[in-house]
Amino acid sequence: MIIDTHAHYDDEQFDADRAELLGQMREGGVGLIVNAGSTLESWDRIVNLTEKYPFVYGAIGIHPDEAGALTEADMERMRELLDLPKIVAAGEIGLDYYWDKSGHDIQKRWFIRQLEIAREKDMPVIIHSREAAADTMEIMEKHAAGMRAVIHCYSYSPEMAEAYVKMGYYIGIGGVVTFKNAKKLKNVVEQIPLTSIVLETDCPYLAPEPYRGKRNCSLYLPYVAEQIAELKNVSAEEVVRQTEINSRKLYGLPEADPDSVQKPVSRS
Ligand code: NI
Repeated sequence: MIIDTHAHYDDEQFDADRAELLGQMREGGVGLIVNAGSTLESWDRIVNLTEKYPFVYGAIGIHPDEAGALTEADMERMRELLDLPKIVAAGEIGLDYYWDKSGHDIQKRWFIRQLEIAREKDMPVIIHSREAAADTMEIMEKHAAGMRAVIHCYSYSPEMAEAYVKMGYYIGIGGVVTFKNAKKLKNVVEQIPLTSIVLETDCPYLAPEPYRGKRNCSLYLPYVAEQIAELKNVSAEEVVRQTEINSRKLYGLPEADPDSVQKPVSRS
């Protein structure tokens, strides 16, 4: 089955047809979706989605764009939600120096704080990093050594991707890899092993070709799998098969039908 390791179905762009769209996932080959956290307001919506849909799991965390308003009380709430049975990761967390909404120091502080909480809860982390390559690497080396992680919507060099793979992390590949001008990302996919790649949409954003610019959804992931297959000289089926294994390892999801899946009990 296809696993979408990073989606935002809580986004208002899905308000008009969310149930209808999610109802089409199984038929479209998408067996499991992890909905990533972004704002504080997203958290309750995500928990609701995981309660309503057996195949939807969640991650709880605060996007770097939102770090400016965070307090320790929010971190306490994050801790509580990470204990819920269908919350499988902390994220998305990281650094965004492109939008740079709250300054580098505040972003770093709350990135590190959320990494600490994830470590305390023995949870994998979903990393958002844009135009912050060196600082992200430094923080991951210092504060996330030995943790499970995915570098989501990876946008840096093949060399840095290889360094992350050596650290045991996964590289999230989505619609951008299908863009004609995405030469660097195509090189990344060529150079890292398929065992380190996971599929993601980041929907409603970043739809693959031929839907570039439209609202994205997990049903478009076959286009991403096809592109990865072409770059790695394997079949699209092989890409789906291996990335499912990778995604289950990343998030600690057991090999089972999502309808009967329980959260692994391996954490303290
Ligand atoms: Ni995202």
